[in-house]
Formats: sequence, C-alpha cells, structure tokens
Amino acid sequence: LKAETVAALAAARTPGEWDAVRVGTLGRAGKLTSLLRQLGTFPPEERKARGQALNVLRDELSKLVEERGREIEEEGLQARLVAERVDVTQPAELRAEGKLHPVSRAIEEITAIFGAMGFGVADGPDIESQWHNFSALNTPDHHPARTEQDTFYLPPEKEGALPRVLRTQTSGVQIRTMLEREPPLRIIAPGRTYRADHDATHSPMFHQCEGLVIEKGITLAHLKGCLIEFLRVYFNDPALPVRFRASYFPFTEPSMEVDIGWSKASGEVGKGDDWLEVLGAGMVQPRVLANCGLDPAEWQGFAFGMGIERLAMLKNGIPDLRAFYESDLRWLQHYGTSP
Ligand code: PHE
Repeated sequence: LKAETVAALAAARTPGEWDAVRVGTLGRAGKLTSLLRQLGTFPPEERKARGQALNVLRDELSKLVEERGREIEEEGLQARLVAERVDVTQPAELRAEGKLHPVSRAIEEITAIFGAMGFGVADGPDIESQWHNFSALNTPDHHPARTEQDTFYLPPEKEGALPRVLRTQTSGVQIRTMLEREPPLRIIAPGRTYRADHDATHSPMFHQCEGLVIEKGITLAHLKGCLIEFLRVYFNDPALPVRFRASYFPFTEPSMEVDIGWSKASGEVGKGDDWLEVLGAGMVQPRVLANCGLDPAEWQGFAFGMGIERLAMLKNGIPDLRAFYESDLRWLQHYGTSP
C-alpha cells in the first residue's frame, strides 16, 4: 500500500488529483482506513502487532500526503508567477503626448514670478461693459480706441443700455478688483482680449496680462523695481537692459512704455543694441481710484499690462504670431512644452 500511495502521489499534478489520493487512502472509505477496520477479524494475538504496524504506516502515509500537498501548492504558485510575468524588455507602446501651448506656458511662468512677489490672480469676463472697459478707466467718449475700427461691439444686456464690447484690454479687471475687494491689493489678471485688427503681427483675439498694486505710499520706484525684476526673471537674464519711456494711457499718470534690449537682426533678447516695447505701465490715475471709491489721498498704486504672445515669442524664438492660433500639431510639438 505504501509503494502504491507513493506512486499515486507522484502522479498527482493538481490539488484535485492530490485530494483524490488523500481521500482514497486516509479518508473514511480509504484503503488504510478499511485495513484498520478489518483488525477485529484477526485473532487477538495477531491483532496487536498488526495494529501497531498499521499505525506506523498511517503516520508515514499522512506525512507523505502532506508533503506532496505542499509541493503541489508550491508548483501552482510558480506556474502562476511565470504565467503572469511582465517582460520588461518588451519595447514600450508609443503614445502621442500632448504639449502645453506656449501661451499657457507663459501664463504659468508669469503667474509664478508675480506669485513669488505676493501677487494673486484675478479675472473678469471677456464680454465687458463699456463702463468697465473704457469709462471707469478714464477713457473719454470720443477716444479713438472706442471706434468700431478697434473695438468689437455686442448688443446691450438690457434694452436702452449701452452696447457691450469684447474687452480690448484686461484693464477692466483693475476696476472690478478695486470695486470688489478692500485694499491693499496686489493682483495680476491674465486673459483673452479682442481688437478689430488682423494682419501678420495682429490677431483679433490675443492675450494680455494685467497687473495692479494698490497700497499706501506706493511710488514710481516700486513700479520700476517690480517690472525690472519680473522681466529679468522671465527672460532669465539678470543683466537684461530695461528702459522706461514716457507715454500716455488714460488710466495712468504718469504713464510709460517699457522696452527691453534685443537684437533686431537675430531676434535675441538681451543682445544687440535695439529696443523693443513689451509693457505699458503707470501710476493709477487718481480719477480711476475715485471711480472705484478709493480716496487718492490715502491710496496709491501702479498698473501694468503686457501682451502674452509677444513675451512668449521673444522668449522661445517663435517667429510668427498667426501660428499661435492655427492648431498645427507640428508647431505645437515643436514649441509646446511637456507638462
Ligand atoms: N491696457 C494697456 C494696453 O492694452 C496696457 C496698460 C495696462 C497700460 C495698465 C498701463 C497700465 O495697451
């Protein structure tokens, strides 16, 4: 019986086969069990020796059955590990990877730089009232920026009201922020802007980023320090030449345009001896403060605005503005950044 069991166990390959051998030998109707049952049919003198021998055999068989059971379990585990193995030498499946658009990237960078200087992000609607886009910003009714050659007009919100506009600048967010929040304020407002202009260097939709600081005792020196710092960090050039030129905006006084040094020939920023305008800025006009309920004797501030596409083009050597809006995948793969 022992030899027979050893052979049957060796032949068993699965837990089911193994269990059949176990039950067939040690189970209630198993071969060993019936041998033990037959003990009573033997004469008493034989019974004792035979019983002892059968007990030894039972212990041996139990041990063999148990060992084989463990082996089969182990073999099954190994087989599963082999079957489920990942082949790390297989070449990876190629996937198309999206890239961040240069405008999104520039907005992220600008937000991070001003964020480090304590500026939060504010926003306003693309469809704006004439009051927010022009009047509250001290822009007179006859100002050329208001003409239909420059501004897209939309029907008024209510009958009898003035037509609305697609905002021509992000400066309306200055007004909204001053009206909605208590000073001191330090915000930037990136977003879409619209002008009725379309040629190689102008798009009817483009992006600006506004900036506004309202605090007590703010001067032109703060404005200059802040913008020089921003431009030098953005263009990664601690020696970038920056020039402030007197200019005019209805909502700032004094007003200025900010130029950076660049090479007209190569388009490189910080090289050569040409100047390129990148920002409009100035001290917030006292009338604008008053329009927003702030006392100009108590609160001062500065504001600035920049074209995001222009900054992105200069930084990344992008030659053509129109390509920004064409969704050409080759252009996006080339000028976009991996997230
Ligand atoms: N809104 C101005 C423009 O579109 C830029 C600007 C913003 C100038 C804030 C001064 C202060 O050109």
